[in-house]
Amino acid sequence: MAVAFVQLAKEMVSPTQVYVRFVRVQAYAPSVRGREKRINKATAPGKVILFGEHAVVYGRPAMAVPVLEVQAKAVLHSRRGDGFRIVAANLERDYRLADAPPNNPLAKIICLTYQYLKQPLPSNLELRLTSTIPLGRGLGSGAAVSTAIVRALAMFYDHPLSAEEVSALVYEVEKIHHGTPSGIDNTVIAFEQPVYFVKGKPIQRMHVSSPFTLVIGDTGMVSPTHRVVGDLRSRWQADPQQYEGYFDEISAITQQARIIIEQPDSDLARLGKLMNENHEVLVRLGISSPKLEQLIQAAHQAGALGAKLSGAGWGGNMIALATPQTAKAIAKALTQAGAVGVIVTKVK
Ligand code: MEV
Repeated sequence: MAVAFVQLAKEMVSPTQVYVRFVRVQAYAPSVRGREKRINKATAPGKVILFGEHAVVYGRPAMAVPVLEVQAKAVLHSRRGDGFRIVAANLERDYRLADAPPNNPLAKIICLTYQYLKQPLPSNLELRLTSTIPLGRGLGSGAAVSTAIVRALAMFYDHPLSAEEVSALVYEVEKIHHGTPSGIDNTVIAFEQPVYFVKGKPIQRMHVSSPFTLVIGDTGMVSPTHRVVGDLRSRWQADPQQYEGYFDEISAITQQARIIIEQPDSDLARLGKLMNENHEVLVRLGISSPKLEQLIQAAHQAGALGAKLSGAGWGGNMIALATPQTAKAIAKALTQAGAVGVIVTKVK
């Protein structure tokens, strides 16, 4: 049976095929027994992009950091077997993997991970997912849920995976969420440390010389990354020269920011100015929104050293550079300006 399943999983090309194949396999899938002592849960953090969003899709560098204050969690339980079940608690969904619709990202990451671990899919397991990461707001919720799933399955089957392996598996699912993802979200979340990222190149871990405080403000507006990325792509196709120029500007800012962050006694005032400059280019790229501008202005008025949108834009989150002294006032100002959620995090 195990051989049969692995063969089926290897042939797996599209989630539609997965659906059909799993329906057939469930009938004689094995049960998981004696797993009580196994580690059955894992978590993964959120993330924010500090510099370089969008430009990173076009080969320029970007910088991102994990946000440990919000987490996705995956827990495996055995249950009386009527197939492998997915319980997405936040979304109040409970369904059999075999009944997952085509292109379901959860089904895809589960199938890919079983295939990678060379394990047969059991008939009596439940995967329960919870998350405190707001959905669709640029905090990496999709990549974090996928990462927690891969980690939980890897631990459950006692098959440790490196951060590179986790990241590569999650990247496959990011393509469903994002269309043409750069890979920065899966990388920063799987490695759980600040990264300097260039698409297709080995990850560069960053050394944060002087830890600094970020205040993250949520507009409450869901912004599907693939839509913003797709819209920008059509504008880039219409006028590549102008948009390549914008991406080059962002690239220069990101490189300067890296130097500041990594050098001793980082000049945080200068770093804040670079955030403002990056944001100005994102405005020219058509990525901001009135609500983002409102929150960014509120952060400036409350004493932020710099502020910018973070992630795909059009909604989602903004970030403000604070000092330990100003963080509270900035958080309050963001809430008063209409942020539906505020996170204060230390980058180190
Ligand atoms: C999304 O978190 C960041 C974007 O640059 C898209 C990507 O890198 O894939 C907007």
